Amino acid sequence: MPYPYQLKSIEEYNIAYQKSVEDPEGFWGAIAENFLWKKKWNSVLNWNFTEPKVEWYKGATLNITENCIDRHLDSMAHKPAIIWEPNNPGERTRIVTYSRLHKRVCQFAQVLKNNGVKKGDRVCIYMGMVPELSYAVLGCARIGAIHSVIFGGFSAQSIADRLEDAGAEFIVCCDGAYRGSKDIPLKSIIDDALIGNKTVKRVIVYTRTRTPVSMIKGRDVWWEDEMEYAETQVEKNGVVSFPAEEMDAEDPLFILYTSGSTGKPKGVVHSSAGYMVWTNYSFVNVFQYEQGDVHFCTADVGWITGHSYIVYGPLSAGATSLMFEGIPTYPDAGRFWDIIDKHKVNILYTAPTAIRSLMSYGLEPLKGKDLSSLKILGTVGEPINEEAWHWYDENIGRKKCPIVDTWWQTETGGILISNIAGITPARPGWATLPMPGVQPVLVDEKGIEVTEPDDRGFLKGNLCIKTPWPAILRTTYGDHERCRTNYFATYPGLYFTGDGALKDVNGFYRITGRVDDVLNVSGHRIGTAEVENAINMYADVVESAVVGYPHDIKGQGIYAYVILGNNKHQEETTRRNILETVTRIIGAIAKPDKIQFVLGLPKTRSGKIMRRILRKIAEGETTSLGDTSTLLDPLIVDEIKNGKL
Ligand code: PRX
Repeated sequence: MPYPYQLKSIEEYNIAYQKSVEDPEGFWGAIAENFLWKKKWNSVLNWNFTEPKVEWYKGATLNITENCIDRHLDSMAHKPAIIWEPNNPGERTRIVTYSRLHKRVCQFAQVLKNNGVKKGDRVCIYMGMVPELSYAVLGCARIGAIHSVIFGGFSAQSIADRLEDAGAEFIVCCDGAYRGSKDIPLKSIIDDALIGNKTVKRVIVYTRTRTPVSMIKGRDVWWEDEMEYAETQVEKNGVVSFPAEEMDAEDPLFILYTSGSTGKPKGVVHSSAGYMVWTNYSFVNVFQYEQGDVHFCTADVGWITGHSYIVYGPLSAGATSLMFEGIPTYPDAGRFWDIIDKHKVNILYTAPTAIRSLMSYGLEPLKGKDLSSLKILGTVGEPINEEAWHWYDENIGRKKCPIVDTWWQTETGGILISNIAGITPARPGWATLPMPGVQPVLVDEKGIEVTEPDDRGFLKGNLCIKTPWPAILRTTYGDHERCRTNYFATYPGLYFTGDGALKDVNGFYRITGRVDDVLNVSGHRIGTAEVENAINMYADVVESAVVGYPHDIKGQGIYAYVILGNNKHQEETTRRNILETVTRIIGAIAKPDKIQFVLGLPKTRSGKIMRRILRKIAEGETTSLGDTSTLLDPLIVDEIKNGKL
C-alpha cells in the first residue's frame, strides 16, 4: 500500500502545510479519501473553540477496525501486523499476521457480544503488554464499545475512580503481568478495585502468568473459554467474519485518563474518524514508514503513545508493529538492542528517560548487537537534553538515522510538532515544525501573541493552537465544562497546551516543559495536586506541597514537603508509610523521590503556598529565592532551606 499523502521533500511539506492552513477542508477531505468509509461525510469540519465543539467528517460512517485490518486482507493477509516479544527471554516470540489479527479481533468482538457488551458501553482494559491487549482494544472498536485502557502501574483506588467516572460495566484483564523480574497481580488489583463497585457486571480474565486468582461466580469468566466458544460462532467453513458496527465519524472511540493541575484525572475522549485519519497521517509521515519496515514503539498501550503508535497508527497503515512486553533493562540493559537485532527493527520510537537510563550503562550492552537495520529514531514524552540526543544519534543511529523529536499530548491524539524523518531538518532539543494542519501560537500571560524576540532571538510564551486538527480531544468524559475550562478558557479562542515553548527565526519550536502544576516524571504526567491529596490521606499528615526538581534519568523527580501532626518521631518509618499510602492511592509511579518534613510552608498572607520558592529550594537554588518579605512567616524559608534533602 503506497501512501499518496506521504511527504517526500521539504517542498512537498511546505505545499501541504500551506494548503492545510488555507483550505483545511479541501486538504483533510482529500486525505480522508484514502480510507474505508461506509458512508461519506456531508461536511469536513465544523468547529468553535467557545463551547468547544469540533466535528470532523460529519455525516460519515465507518469502523476503524475495517481500516486497521479488513482492508489489508486482500494484499497483506500473511504480513505480520504484530510481532510480540515476551518479557522473559527464551520464551517464544509471537507473530500475528493480519489474517490472524482479523480472526482474533472478530472472535473477541463476539466474546464481548456474548457477554452483553453493546455499542457505546464502556469497557475497562487492565492488561499487560500481550497481543490480547490489542485484540481487546480492537474488539471493542469492532462493536463500537468505548475502551478505557488503564496502565498496569495504577493502583486499585485509581482504577476504582476511573471505573466509576466512566460508568464501566465490563473489564478485561490478565491474571498477572510480567515486567522485568516482577509479576504484577493484575486480577487481584482489579478485585480490590471492585470492592464497593456497583456497575461492573463482567470481568474477562486472560491467563498470562498463571498466578492464582479468585474467580467470582456469575461475574468473572476466562478469556480462553470465551474465545473458544466464540470461534465456533465467527468461523463458518473456514471463513471468519464478525460484522463491524457502523459508527458515526464523531462517535467516541476511547477514553484515556490523564492528570491535570487540579482534581482527579480526567477522561480524555477521542472520536473515531478524526483520530484514525490523524494517527495514520502522522505515522506515515513523521516516521516515513515504508512497506516491510518493522516499527518498534517502546511505550505501553496504557498510555496514548501506545494507542496511537503501536495500535491505531501503524495498523491503519498496514504496518508491522513490534510490541514488547518487558522493560529495557531486563534481563540486562542490552534488551532493546537484542530486540532490534533479532527482529531487524527499522524504526525505534522511545522516550528520553529510557535513553538516559540506557546511557548510564555505558557502551558495553551494545557490544555484538547488530543495529544496522535501523533507519529512523524517534523520541516522545518530554524534552530531550542534548547529551542524550547525541548519544542516541551516535551510538544507536550511528549518525545515519534521522531523529524525530515528536511533541504531542494525550489530548492531541497524535504528533503535532515534529520534524519529518529525513525530510525536514532536525535540531537537537527542538521538536521543530508543526505538522500540516497545526497552527501553533505563543502567547503571554494575558493571551496576547508574543511578537518580540528575547535577547537570544527567540519568541518565548505559552504554547496554544489556533484551529482544530482531526484528532483534537472532543470532551472530557461526563464533564464537558471541565474540558472547556481546562483547555479552552485560559486563552479564549485558543486550545491551551499547558506547555511553554520557544520559537526561533526558522519557525522551529522548542518545548520547554509544563507551565502548570503538572509534573513530567519519566515521560508520565502526574499532577502535583493529585500527589498532595494522596500524601494528605496519610493519618499523620497535616499539609503537604509537591514540586518537581531536575532528575538525571526521570527528567523530573517528585519532591514533597510534608508537615506532620503529633507523631514527629520515627521519621524513616513515617516516610515509608507515606510512600506506601501514595502507592495505594495512585500507584508506584507517583511515589515522591524525596520527602522533607517541615514545620511550615511558605505562604502568602492570603494563605496561598508559594510553590515558586519551594521549587527553587528543591532545585538546589538557595540564594536568589526572590522577595520573601510578603510571606506570612518569612523565617520558615530558612528552616526549609537548612533541611533540604
Ligand atoms: O509537556 C509535554 C510533554 O508531555 C506532555 C504530554 O504528556 P502526555 O499527555 O502524557 O503524553 C505524552 C506522550 C505524547 C506535554 O504537554 N511532551 C511530550 N512530548 C514532548 C514533550 N515535551 C517536550 N518534547 C516532546 N517531544
